[in-house]
Order: sequence, then structure tokens, then C-alpha cells
Amino acid sequence: MRGTQVFFVACLAISAALLLAVGVSTMPPRSMPAAAAAGAAVWRAYRCEGCHTLFGQGGAYAPDITRSYGQRGPDYLREFLVNPSAFHPGARVMPALGLTRTETDHLLAFLQWVDGQNTGWPPRPLRVAGGADTEVSVASADTTASLPAEPAARGEYWFKRPPAICATCHALTPNTVIVGPSLAGIASRAADRVPGMAAEAYLRESILNPGAFVVPGFPDAMQKNLGEHLSAEQINDIIAFLLTLE
Ligand code: HEC
Ligand code: HEC
Repeated sequence: MRGTQVFFVACLAISAALLLAVGVSTMPPRSMPAAAAAGAAVWRAYRCEGCHTLFGQGGAYAPDITRSYGQRGPDYLREFLVNPSAFHPGARVMPALGLTRTETDHLLAFLQWVDGQNTGWPPRPLRVAGGADTEVSVASADTTASLPAEPAARGEYWFKRPPAICATCHALTPNTVIVGPSLAGIASRAADRVPGMAAEAYLRESILNPGAFVVPGFPDAMQKNLGEHLSAEQINDIIAFLLTLE
């Protein structure tokens, strides 16, 4: 009898120790600024995690948005949250959640905090023995090894990839409006947009300061921070590409 009791008590002690260890390991690793913590509450209250994942945790209906803040910037995310259905036509639509301005501020502070966690997310693709490398759907921005040699070809490459992903908002086929206008024929149009402004200068301004000239009939919804995310060389290459679109 005594032996069974000792065994029972030992089991209890081990379970308690294990529970404690799990509890400690799931506690947030770093303290969060107050605005970000308020944003985490907004995130939970609106059930964002029912559709989205952060660090792979949550619902799989909509994309993982761990790095959205850095990729998109606050201006874009504000526009997006007000009217999500204007973006990504043909994809699943996110409901307009009617967030207040304060809720949006807090949410953006939270997403900024999430993006700032240096956790090596997304993880590297798994190499399975005998299999090919896993194809990554949006090519990562730092694969400089496979960059084309010619500037306009490099520009086309960057047009479709992070950090800017111009192609999510601009089609290259005529008369196709996504969020922004089609850029088919932009090389010719760019020269006539602003009197006294050459095509190249207009295109540079369109990327660095999109609010300076807003194409009639379109919202002022292009990111304002592309200059912080694209290098001077990437911008020159993208302009070289746009100048080929006669
Ligand atoms: C009912 C499901 C649903 C809920 C709830 C939801 N989303 Fe979304 N969200 C989506 C879908 C669908 C997309 C677009 C997916 C696509 O383009 O394929 C999206 C896209 C996004 C994007 C990416 C925008 C871009 O273009 O880069 C962000 C950021 C985002 N949602 C934030 C949020 C936040 C914050 C909340 C909570 C306040 C939230 N979502 C709640 C479904 C949802
Ligand atoms: C979030 C969506 C979005 C993204 C991403 C985006 N744009 Fe735009 N863009 C717009 C919208 C909306 C307009 C029209 C309003 C305006 O002129 O600002 C526009 C306008 C333009 C124009 C002016 C077109 C004309 O007919 O005069 C150019 C050029 C342009 N964008 C280039 C780019 C390039 C290059 C990138 C990537 C580096 C990019 N855009 C990324 C939404 C976007």
C-alpha cells in the first residue's frame, strides 16, 4: 500500500511541474507597449484570428499577416481596413469591420509589434529527402542570386515581388482596373500627365510621392512609404521597366 501512495504523490508532483513548465513557456516572451496590448485586445474582440494566422497560429481562411505591417505600411493598412473589398478582386473578401479610429491605431501598434518580433518567420521551406525544394508562392525579396542582368527585366521582377508587389494593385493588360489603373501604355501616358514633367520624373514621383498627382477617378490608396522599402536601384529598375510599356 505505501508503495502505491508514494507512486501516486510522485505522479502528482511531476504533473504539477509539467503544467508549470508549459504555463511558463506559453507566456509572452517580451513585454508589449500599452498601445500594442490594446491592439491585441481589438484583434481578439473582432475575431481576426478566426480567419488569419500570426506566426502560423489561428484560422487558415485568410493569409498569415505576421509581416503585413512591414510589407504594407500603416497608410495602406488603414485604407484596407476601411474598405477591404476594394482590394484583391476575385479573392476571398474580408468583411468591413467598422473599426473606430482608436481601435485602428491600437491594431496597427499591435501589428507593428508583431512584425518587430525577430523570430525568423516565415520558417525556411522544409527539404524532404528525395523531394524538390518547396515552391514559395510569393518569391522572397532577398533572392538576389536569381536577379536578371538587364535593368528593365529586373524592374519587371521587382514589380511582381515584395517589398512593393505593385502587381497586387496594377494590371499590365489594358483597361483592367485592380485597385490602381492598368499600367499598359504608361510609358506614353506618363509624358503627358503633368505639364512640364518628363515621363521618367513622373514615374519616380508616382512611386515616391503618389499623392502629388492622383489619377482622376482613383482613390489616393497607393502606399506612401515605398521609398523606405525599395532601394534606389530597385526604383530605377522598376522605372526602366515601366518605360518599356509603350
Ligand atoms: C471573415 C474572415 C476575416 C476576418 C474576421 C478578418 N479578415 Fe483580414 N482578410 C480576410 C481575407 C479573405 C483577406 C484577403 C485575402 C486574399 O487577398 O486572398 C484578408 C486580408 C487581410 C490583410 C492583408 C491585406 C493586404 O492586402 O495585404 C490584413 C492586414 C488583414 N486582413 C487584417 C485583418 C484584421 C486586423 C482583422 C481583425 C480586425 C481581420 N483581418 C479580420 C478575411 C478576414
Ligand atoms: C495598394 C495598391 C497599390 C500598390 C501596391 C501600388 N500602387 Fe500604384 N497606384 C495605385 C492607385 C490607387 C493609383 C491611382 C491613384 C494615384 O495616382 O495615386 C496608382 C497610380 C500609379 C501610377 C500612375 C499611373 C498613371 O496612369 O498615371 C503609377 C505609375 C504607379 N501607380 C506605379 C506603381 C508602382 C511602380 C508600384 C510598385 C512599386 C505601385 N504603383 C504600387 C495603387 C497602388
